[in-house]
Amino acid sequence: MYILGNWKDRLDVKSSAELAGAIAANAAQEYPNMEIVLFPDDVSLVQVALIFESYPLIKIGAQDGPLEKTGSLTGSIAASNISRFCDYVILGHSERRSKLDETDEIVARKATVASDLGLIPVICVSKGEVSNIDPYLGIRNQIEAIPSRIISRGELLIAYEPIDAIGTGVPADPKNVKEATQVIQNVISNLVPTINVPVLYGGSVDAENATSYLSLEGIDGVLVGGASLTADSFLSIVEKASNIEQAR
Ligand code: PGA
Repeated sequence: MYILGNWKDRLDVKSSAELAGAIAANAAQEYPNMEIVLFPDDVSLVQVALIFESYPLIKIGAQDGPLEKTGSLTGSIAASNISRFCDYVILGHSERRSKLDETDEIVARKATVASDLGLIPVICVSKGEVSNIDPYLGIRNQIEAIPSRIISRGELLIAYEPIDAIGTGVPADPKNVKEATQVIQNVISNLVPTINVPVLYGGSVDAENATSYLSLEGIDGVLVGGASLTADSFLSIVEKASNIEQAR
């Protein structure tokens, strides 16, 4: 099971290092059945990665990835840096899709670069384009835009993150999450029948509600924003996930 902590731009270097230290002290050796991935901001990333260098159970990811493997793009992170310090990269987060107009095409290009660098893209999908006929049209489009050779490799995660639930404290109804997860799995198996891509839920997940998502059939973990900013709440989600995984 995957527990991802998306720190966004909420912590400075000092707070990021303190949080990483607290997680390392309490969890770094404890949950071999969990895939724990922390996503600090780019400035804190190296320091956080070095804290976990001797704890291979905890992985590091970047909150976005480069558009090109080599090039000259001001504001981008060098491909060699990202592959040196990260295992994962979040792509297509709805905040970037809406505030920076990141299109499915841009997400696909970044996913290709990330995948070629050996990183695991965590591709966020949300409602997107609205249609009266198909409530999942946006999600379908976002998934179908992912290059099929990346899906065929099976080395990616999909995070279902309904916009209304992100950062609002109003998480999605687990029934709706289950339905959306099924749609996502169907779209993927229509594209590449033999592959099983892990699907996560994200949007106001906290220690109280995590179990209602983690115990859903078809959900392989959670992408946590606000509740990943303190070691106690994040580790309590990890602990719940670990117990559910053990019981499976
Ligand atoms: P949230 O953020 O848990 O604070 O809603 C989740 C996300 O944006 O990935």
